[in-house]
Amino acid sequence: MARSRGTARCEQGLAAPLSTSAPRAVYARPMIEREFPEGFLWGAATSAYQVEGAWNEDGRGESIWDRFSHTPGRVLHGDTGDVACDHYHRMKSDVALMKELGLKAYRFSISWPRVLPEGRGAANERGLDFYDRLVDELGAAGIVANATLNHWDLPQALEDRGGWPNRDCAKWFADYAQVAFKRLGDRVPMWATHNEPFVTAIGYGGADFAPGRSDAAAAYRAVHVLNLAHGEAVRAFRAGGSRGPYAGKIGIVLDLHDFVPATDSRDDELACRRALDNAQNVFLHPILLGSYPESLMEWLGPMAPEIRQGDLELASSPIDFLGMNYYFTFSVRYAHRGGHLRLSQGFAGESGLGETAMGWGINPRGFPASLARVSALSKGLPIYITENGCAMRDECDASGFVEDRGRVHYLRLHLLELHRAIRSGVNARGYFVWSLMDNFEWASGYEPRFGIVRVEFKTQARTPKLSARWYSGVIAANAVPE
Ligand code: FCB
Repeated sequence: MARSRGTARCEQGLAAPLSTSAPRAVYARPMIEREFPEGFLWGAATSAYQVEGAWNEDGRGESIWDRFSHTPGRVLHGDTGDVACDHYHRMKSDVALMKELGLKAYRFSISWPRVLPEGRGAANERGLDFYDRLVDELGAAGIVANATLNHWDLPQALEDRGGWPNRDCAKWFADYAQVAFKRLGDRVPMWATHNEPFVTAIGYGGADFAPGRSDAAAAYRAVHVLNLAHGEAVRAFRAGGSRGPYAGKIGIVLDLHDFVPATDSRDDELACRRALDNAQNVFLHPILLGSYPESLMEWLGPMAPEIRQGDLELASSPIDFLGMNYYFTFSVRYAHRGGHLRLSQGFAGESGLGETAMGWGINPRGFPASLARVSALSKGLPIYITENGCAMRDECDASGFVEDRGRVHYLRLHLLELHRAIRSGVNARGYFVWSLMDNFEWASGYEPRFGIVRVEFKTQARTPKLSARWYSGVIAANAVPE
């Protein structure tokens, strides 16, 4: 597995076209509005390890991200998720803030080791209680709960038994899913099995992610087990996971960036196809079509995972929606020394738009391109944009306010592209900005700030940024201002 997820810092922020001296009320009276379909679900997203903190409280077990971040040299500045946004203790006021912002939905993840400290066996009631209270609080605020079961924080106890490359992990995941469905299935209308399983898998292939193993074959075994685990959880859900008045839905969240060949040479085109198969079609194809991309499997040879009878039927258990995360577009070229896939890839930014504080080139046009491709493959299955957003070089004033015009510009350009895609027939039903608040950005620690709400980590003070106010306006109008 190979993934480039640059963390390079860049001095050049996003070129913000809006004058910084313009009054804040500039968004209050849009001249022309781009309306979204009625009932479009506007939300914000976070994940357990990135916001909860309370890493060893109330019986929570250790996750691979605890182990990874506690290992010197793994995370920038030695940051950890031990406290993060302290959301575990501030959940009530965080939900109140979501309500104030007018969010219609909140996407969060459930920490597997909080619910099952050993990954399997006895459930931790106090851990389950937290999600119980969160879901009730969201319900009382009229906010739709969108829960992801696996956002990368595998219990360390299961990693010690081989982790995701071990086939048994699919069953362990199904058992965990059942515990979550049983407790929350009467009140959570939207479930996702995994978040970006590609990134989970590359944690085994030598990338900067937990558990930090370097074994490409193990990474491809993890891909297959993640697909099996997904299918197991979907089956468990259909067998009674969703109850009550909500008639819940289940899907999966994938990182569905766009890939373009660097030139029109045949080698670059094939390399681009390989990159796409490797990062996306290894999940999209088994889940939607019940097969793996043939040419990639041939290319991998002995590194390809073992597929047993019945595996693909399981993986392709029908889902209700596809969650799509979009941040950037890759340009891919053939490279003789480019690892086992023989390719190199870099960010393809749109000229004049610069890059984010992660060093990710900004490319709003890749968004509809990716949407069109995925929408054709999924034959019109409802799509939710489950993540989109950017880290910017935020500067706050004395009151903690951030006038993040660059972020507003980024969000606006992407929403306009989404709007156009919907007009051209893409069945997109909702959008979740990443992220509700600044949080622990994995191997990059707390330096990149993705939130529309600023978090002052020393005091845990939350202050909505300009982008939060702007987004509230978008939600209220169900439209993007011109
Ligand atoms: C996505 C992850 C999310 C966050 C954003 C910036 O790949 O799903 O947790 O880190 O990137």
